[in-house]
Amino acid sequence: MELERVSTGVPGLDEILSGGLIKGRPYLVAGGPGAGKTILCMHFLLDGLKKNEKGLYISLEENADHLRQDMAVFGWDLARLRIMDTMQDLGSEKWVLKTDKAVSRPEFTVINLVKVIEEKLKTYRPKRLVIDSITSVRMLYDKELNVRRELLSLMNFLTKVECTTLLTSESYMHNSEVQMEEFLASGVIKLHKIESKGERISAISVEKFRGSGFDRATRPMKITGEGMTVFPGESIFEPAQF
Ligand SMILES: Nc1ncnc2c1ncn2[C@@H]1O[C@H](COP(=O)(O)OP(=O)(O)OP(=O)(O)O)[C@@H](O)[C@H]1O
Ligand SMILES: [Mg+2]
Repeated sequence: MELERVSTGVPGLDEILSGGLIKGRPYLVAGGPGAGKTILCMHFLLDGLKKNEKGLYISLEENADHLRQDMAVFGWDLARLRIMDTMQDLGSEKWVLKTDKAVSRPEFTVINLVKVIEEKLKTYRPKRLVIDSITSVRMLYDKELNVRRELLSLMNFLTKVECTTLLTSESYMHNSEVQMEEFLASGVIKLHKIESKGERISAISVEKFRGSGFDRATRPMKITGEGMTVFPGESIFEPAQF
């Protein structure tokens, strides 16, 4: 049976994914600070809107107004997009995640996050979901064991819902360790910054993609005033000069 595909909305990216993401599964978008994780996720949700598929963006780091301002430079109309920043939605002191570094407000738990998402799925019925970023979830727990248990429960939940989900995660250049969320996701898309002849170029790669073939090469990617574009036919290395 051919699995149903969902477009990422990023020009060129579906091509390296053999046609797009597989519907209903959770995917990880990993990259360093400013790599383009949020922009990629917005493409995905806006593509949904064009196809009359509702999108829900859960912001665990940035406040919704700032996000709308940031994305306005691309001329995107986010008015029809449901953006939930965690502070607004629960409105109580129990759900203030955004506290610089001292994030461990004990009341903010994955169980509560799942409850909020469940509620939204019932009332709003989005087809596409973004959680930006799960690095915040990581920081809620002191012990790696707890991080794992909570992420596992979140991923299990996301696997069962009907939405196609993108989760972003902050990856650090000097840390080559594979994070647990990469194992749990159905696929991993990585955004890179590569130093080449004193210039930094952006690139993208697919690290894993369950149930599908994919392009194993790292491909150039660009962010311009129109958003993100991937160049599937191009190499990040210039052809050798003879
Ligand atoms: N008009 C533009 N032209 C080129 N690059 C742009 C433009 N607008 C934004 N950018 C770049 O996009 C990047 C920000 O993308 P985005 O917010 O998606 O990154 P991110 O990975 O989500 O970052 P963070 O880790 O801070 O959440 C920045 O590096 C910025 O320079
Ligand atoms: Mg971001």
